Amino acid sequence: MSSDATPEQIAAIKGFWDRNTHLLLSAGAGSGKTYTLIQSVSYGIRKGYSESDIFLITFTRKAASEMRERLRKNSISTGFAGTIHSLAYKIIRQMNPGKKFSIITNPETIFKQLIMEKFSRFSHIPPEYILRGLDEKNAIDFLEAYKSHKEKNNALDFEDMVSVVAQRDSSLLKDYQNKIIFIDEYQDTSPDQVAMLKKLNPQKLFAVGDAKQSIYQFRGANLENFFRFNEEFPDSGRLKLTANFRSQKRIVSFANAFIKRSSSADKIRLVATKKNMEKPIIFHANTSVLQENIRMMLDHGENRPKAPTLPATILVRTNYLVKSIETRIREKKLEERFSVMTIHKAKGLEFDRVILFGVSPRFFPHPNGYPEEEDRIFYVAVTRAKEHLEIYAWPDENGKESRFLSVITRFARNQYLSSTTDKKGK
Ligand SMILES: Nc1ncnc2c1ncn2[C@@H]1O[C@H](COP(=O)(O)OP(=O)(O)OP(=O)(O)O)[C@@H](O)[C@H]1O
Ligand SMILES: [Mg+2]
Repeated sequence: MSSDATPEQIAAIKGFWDRNTHLLLSAGAGSGKTYTLIQSVSYGIRKGYSESDIFLITFTRKAASEMRERLRKNSISTGFAGTIHSLAYKIIRQMNPGKKFSIITNPETIFKQLIMEKFSRFSHIPPEYILRGLDEKNAIDFLEAYKSHKEKNNALDFEDMVSVVAQRDSSLLKDYQNKIIFIDEYQDTSPDQVAMLKKLNPQKLFAVGDAKQSIYQFRGANLENFFRFNEEFPDSGRLKLTANFRSQKRIVSFANAFIKRSSSADKIRLVATKKNMEKPIIFHANTSVLQENIRMMLDHGENRPKAPTLPATILVRTNYLVKSIETRIREKKLEERFSVMTIHKAKGLEFDRVILFGVSPRFFPHPNGYPEEEDRIFYVAVTRAKEHLEIYAWPDENGKESRFLSVITRFARNQYLSSTTDKKGK
């Protein structure tokens, strides 16, 4: 075992094999949950458990490839390492070798196509706007149309695959049952995914997660699964981790202070192991014009006096912002390593320097989001940063600010940006 695992991590790494049948490790961001999971896999293999009996389930494909990389470095290969969706796909393929069916990897494309067909009279409006504005009756019609499209084309989307496996007769799943399953980001599993896990009837199950980082409620994730783990999987233990190894102390304090006020939080505070560095900085602009804010952030992020020299990762709440920023970077032929992604994509990852862009009423918290989930998304965003955290905020056109702003300004260093073109800004 890696000598630098802490006693509380070791309790989980070894305890899973030596004491528990199943185990839930519940802990805050950057506390080494994923690290502990991997260490525990290699500990078990060193103890003589068969690699092919070990299944490792991650939340994203990116996380899966990072995991495989980490395992490869330790000369380990497991029976399975990938997302729960790819496991479902593998199982379905094996069960229906001759049958042709297609997998919908990007349902949005089909949503748009169906919307265009159904509401052709609104062809001048971008389909995503129509989709967002559907009333209940039209929404039900639309879902029916999506369902019959899938049937007609023999197509399944990712969640369908999971529920297909969950509904299969147990006797058909023999090759995948009785395994030792490790699963990361358990707080974001959907009820169907839990049903699938139960169907696989693992010999042992090690789940890690953080209730404060549950950000997929909009897609069917259910925190109840997380809280009910010990009932769903009897004969199981539960452990916690308390130290944060990722972020410098001021970022940890900021994240603690932010999430403390949210009712969705458990009461565990992260304890920083790194020293204090600079406070998170909030750049507060006076213009509501998005393009102006993008321009200022791209320019100012690098060119202000004493800007950190570390490359920045820009995190945003919506895909729309990703596209807007990327377009600007392309147009201006900026030579940055600029990487821009949504907070959802950044889950589980860490970066030296994070620019959180778009704390503004139109974007963050998202006007159509669940308020508590928006708090958790914010928590996920700030806890990605190891050393530097910069936040860009601006009012809407009526001068209204994001509800996050007052909380943030109490714990961050404030700086003001004034737009050169928008003189009407307040
Ligand atoms: N005992 C340790 N000593 C030093 N560094 C550690 C230790 N445990 C974990 N780390 C490091 O801390 C960072 C965060 O670990 P990891 O990504 O496993 O946390 P996590 O709890 O999975 O975070 P998240 O909730 O964001 O998924 C990583 O860089 C990891 O290598
Ligand atoms: Mg993790």
